[in-house]
Amino acid sequence: MANFKKATSIKDWLNQRLAIEKVEKVMGSEYWIPKNINFLWAMGMVLVITFAMLLVSGIFLLMYYQPNVDLAFDSVNYTIMREVDFGWLWRHVHGVAASVVFLIIYIHMFTGIYYGSYKKGREMIWISGMLLFVAFSAEAFSGYMLPWGQMSYWAGMVITNLFAGGSLHADGFVEWIRGDYVPAQAFLGRFFMLHVLLIPLAITGLIGLHFAALRIPHVNNQDGEEIDFDAESKKYLAGDKAGSKVMRFANDFMSKDMMVVGVYLVFFFYLVFFNYSFAMDPVNFDPADGLKTPAHIYPEWYFLWSYEILRPFSVDLGLILFAFAQVIFVLLPFLDRSPNAIAANRRGPMFMIWFWLMLSNMIVLTAMGKLPPEGIYSSIGFVSAIVFVAQWLALPFITSFEKKV
Ligand code: HEM
Repeated sequence: MANFKKATSIKDWLNQRLAIEKVEKVMGSEYWIPKNINFLWAMGMVLVITFAMLLVSGIFLLMYYQPNVDLAFDSVNYTIMREVDFGWLWRHVHGVAASVVFLIIYIHMFTGIYYGSYKKGREMIWISGMLLFVAFSAEAFSGYMLPWGQMSYWAGMVITNLFAGGSLHADGFVEWIRGDYVPAQAFLGRFFMLHVLLIPLAITGLIGLHFAALRIPHVNNQDGEEIDFDAESKKYLAGDKAGSKVMRFANDFMSKDMMVVGVYLVFFFYLVFFNYSFAMDPVNFDPADGLKTPAHIYPEWYFLWSYEILRPFSVDLGLILFAFAQVIFVLLPFLDRSPNAIAANRRGPMFMIWFWLMLSNMIVLTAMGKLPPEGIYSSIGFVSAIVFVAQWLALPFITSFEKKV
């Protein structure tokens, strides 16, 4: 048995049993962060804070929500919004956070792409990040079912229909997913379980994996510099703080992170108090009705780009391209053949054009996904979807010509 001494303080007592000083060093005061990074590197922390707000507000909503097709709509729109003190506040926090989290995820992802943070030993950070993206998408979709409004019902119908696999007609599979012929009680019950238990558990585990994947390669930097973290941290600990290229995560870098988090929270609570309606679809304020199809069924803004890749094509081709759009980002570390892990503007013009075209094209796809698929909109959507696929097919070729900088 280990040799325990009489503790001199509570800290010492805990330290002998849990090695808290060592844990604090590994996670905080000796977690080394490069100095040459900008505010975009705070997005990871902004995501952690937003996820925490989703969890806390979700727990409060769960106290009054009823996962029953006859009660769900009223439990949200009447009980929580009108009867429970501050129920409206928790609902607005939850709804706004669910939408804004995707904006931050997209900024975080495109920061990673711009600075090549998925290359050279950082592949697992990227892959775990993309798994988080998929898990957040499933979490948002399952949550959207819960108020049991018209959009919940019809979006649930359309998305589960995708699993029929077009002309494969896997109809039994769709019913198996729904637990019924149409979205009904079994459907609501299982999406409730996914939303409040299974997917949040998976997200928590994936965040752990994402952080673990960061520990060995360390955080990238805006110059793509290969920092010798051992040598630089020794320099810092020896007292040459100004000459060292790294700083401590806690409390030095964290204070910079918190500055960005503070600005973000001002923006966030502005939305919660004054502009929450952007996160709530007006059609979803009508209760679910299986006999009344809404004129336009469209997903939330963060799914629109991939929805627009599905829409302009025949059912089978549309499904194949939709599946392509869902998985292709995961493969980025292997499709980018360049020897450089530096910012796009220093990698030569080809990747720079690829990056900005990808970003602007996805914004165009998002805008077209919201508009009815008619006339000029459907033509633009069609061209944008082709450009999206062509860009991914071209990536391995354009990057393999890149010279080492
Ligand atoms: C919502 C869940 C997520 C959380 C909580 C999260 C958190 C973090 C944190 C705290 C960092 C370190 C600081 C920073 O660079 O911001 C980080 C880095 C990173 N994340 Fe995420 N992230 C999430 C989702 C994603 C997604 C969807 C991707 C895209 C695939 C991704 C890709 C990356 C990459 C590539 C890095 C490394 C950045 C670098 O080395 O410079 N993350 N993440």
